[in-house]
Amino acid sequence: MSAALQLADPAATERLAAALADAQPPGAVVFLHGDLGAGKSTLARAWLRRLGVTGTVRSPTYTLVERYPLAAGGEALHLDLYRIGDPGELEFLGLDDAAASLWLVEWPQRGGGALPPPDLEVALELAGGGRRALLSARSERGRAWLAAWRPCEVEGSS
Ligand SMILES: Nc1ncnc2c1ncn2[C@@H]1O[C@H](COP(=O)(O)OP(=O)(O)O)[C@@H](O)[C@H]1O
Ligand SMILES: [Mg+2]
Repeated sequence: MSAALQLADPAATERLAAALADAQPPGAVVFLHGDLGAGKSTLARAWLRRLGVTGTVRSPTYTLVERYPLAAGGEALHLDLYRIGDPGELEFLGLDDAAASLWLVEWPQRGGGALPPPDLEVALELAGGGRRALLSARSERGRAWLAAWRPCEVEGSS
């Protein structure tokens, strides 16, 4: 199961994040693909905001992970593995799979086998001044997530 969307501007990327956040299964693992500047962090930040994160959303470029306790319980993990030297570094972070309500992972291909398997992969690329997003379900609940999801309000410019 997959879906392609045209995101005309950053606000459309933020609407995509909000729509996915509203429909996400608990403990969802989301891999965010795309070159530098594709909009991965924009999507992650808007997703965290939608879940009620009100403080600063820092880029995990150097820390590899930023953690956000959620009002609804558990915590959201935002990872950016662009600068990871070795996937083994992930083990030292002591990330608790069971306590995480959400994983948003930029540059997941650099995590090797140290990450949990994804439910959803989002690939962003530059397209016509905006971005194109390709969503691919990678698990049974990822497929249920996309099947139940209504992206109609996401596309278009604001
Ligand atoms: N749909 C879009 N159309 C145009 N620009 C966008 C879109 N989504 C995000 N951007 C912009 O792209 C730039 C880079 O975004 P960022 O999220 O930092 O990328 P990444 O984390 O993939 O490196 C930001 O200036 C952001 O506002
Ligand atoms: Mg980024």
